[in-house]
Amino acid sequence: MSKIVCDTLEAEVNRENISKMVRTFYKMIMKDQTVNPYFIMALGNDLENEEWQEHYKILEDFWMMLMTGEKVYTRDAFAPHLDLAEMYEETFEAWLKLFDEVVHLYYTPKLAQKFYKRAEVLSRKFMQWLDIEQESID
Ligand code: HEM
Repeated sequence: MSKIVCDTLEAEVNRENISKMVRTFYKMIMKDQTVNPYFIMALGNDLENEEWQEHYKILEDFWMMLMTGEKVYTRDAFAPHLDLAEMYEETFEAWLKLFDEVVHLYYTPKLAQKFYKRAEVLSRKFMQWLDIEQESID
């Protein structure tokens, strides 16, 4: 997906633009066969169902907290990943590539980079905690 979904790039993070970005991200995820099986297994393949609605809300809180410092996310972000089917470095690379793409569709390069950096740091931690070898990233 390379078309611009936003007329102007956002230079400020707020719940409204996070909400749009998160929904677009999962539309992109569902088109990617490396990553979509994990989401389909956990939440189903109807992006409008209740499970997905709840997931969007959780992810909005999560990114609001990471990007604005607002303490709206109080859960354990890593825990649900322990219950998923086995993931690999390639799974994280595919996830990160889509995330990089979506944040650049919505935000100025500087903000997009800040989002991406946060996601990259967490990806590395998740991979460490899941005992996934990280060869090509460093
Ligand atoms: C290989 C890449 C990844 C896959 C396949 C994946 C998959 C998933 C799935 C299926 C869920 C829903 C689990 C459930 O509700 O039962 C989930 C939740 C979540 N993921 Fe990921 N994830 C990945 C990477 C990441 C990364 C890098 C981050 C952080 C930057 C992240 C942040 C979250 C958060 C915050 C939740 C919600 C946790 C909660 O319930 O509070 N994920 N992920």
